[in-house]
Amino acid sequence: MNLQSIHRLIKPELTRTERILKDCLFNNGHPALVFAEQLSRFKGKKLRPILLLLSAQAAGGTKPIHFKLATVVELIHNASLVHDDVLDEATLRRNHKTINQRWGNESSILFGDYLFSHAFLTCLQVKSEEVNRIISQTAFKMCYGELTHTGRKFDLSLSEAEYLEIIQQKTAALFSAACQLGALFATNERARTVSQQQNISRLTQYGLNFGMAYQIIDDYLDIASQEKDTGKTGWSDLSKGKITLPIIRLIQSLPAKKRNYLQRLISPGRNGSPQKRSRTKIQDRSEIIKLLNEHDALSYTLQKARDYVRQAQVSLNFIKDSEAKLLLQKLAGEIVPR
Ligand code: FPP
Ligand code: MG
Repeated sequence: MNLQSIHRLIKPELTRTERILKDCLFNNGHPALVFAEQLSRFKGKKLRPILLLLSAQAAGGTKPIHFKLATVVELIHNASLVHDDVLDEATLRRNHKTINQRWGNESSILFGDYLFSHAFLTCLQVKSEEVNRIISQTAFKMCYGELTHTGRKFDLSLSEAEYLEIIQQKTAALFSAACQLGALFATNERARTVSQQQNISRLTQYGLNFGMAYQIIDDYLDIASQEKDTGKTGWSDLSKGKITLPIIRLIQSLPAKKRNYLQRLISPGRNGSPQKRSRTKIQDRSEIIKLLNEHDALSYTLQKARDYVRQAQVSLNFIKDSEAKLLLQKLAGEIVPR
């Protein structure tokens, strides 16, 4: 994603957010410092803070509270990634070794918890019940969604509707909360007009649809692209039995005989127990890719993501024109690879 023009528009706001984030991560030489250093090597896109700050601008303008809120969503995102890499046994993130790869699962879980609790400490500083409610509900949804997905590992009966519900909880909820928080605090909390309320719900919807498209593409790329392009461990979903949209679509399209064949290709017993198994065999991967292409499951997945992008962009239609709105539209337009 080309974020240059976005960085130009909200550079001072992003810089302040990054400073607060650094203060949280690198305070007082704590033992967690070494992990924080590795985390900062990841150089994330800061997509959630960007969406929060742009939503604030599109809804009336940024205020100091937005920098704290942008830090909170980034901390929660990072906490979830550190935990997610343990669950996925991932070794690579943003072209660097994951924390679990360098220091093991124990440290990773604790560091994820550390980031997560830092997010709540930062929340307390803004002294708003509305913020506490939105953040707590969002964190709950993320855990619920991830737990559900984990509980349905290797389960080829997972339906498209169930998958969409899972990704709404584990991913889209945080994007949605980021946009909602940006828009909410751009207005006067005690005297919101009807049109301001409408803008808040439009931006919340935008974030939700953006997040849906984002996770669908993330799941598409896990299968369809190379580690050198994504900077992340490839095939991490299927290797761990996580069933995602391309596979769900493929199963729907396959005749019973081929369905059994696919079931065998991705079954946990194929490369040892689910615990021991960490990679889908190379020759199995090319078989699966072949089937996905033959049955248009990858193009279906891309089309589904495009549908969510369109819905995200439509949500912005009735918001007053501004540079921030234009950038939100463009950002959504860049989720699906061409
Ligand atoms: C990425 O999935 C994972 C998430 C978006 C959510 C993970 C949530 C948890 C681990 C629950 C704990 C949450 C908190 C807040 C501590 P992915 O594997 O598809 O993404 P990837 O390709 O980037 O690894
Ligand atoms: Mg993962």
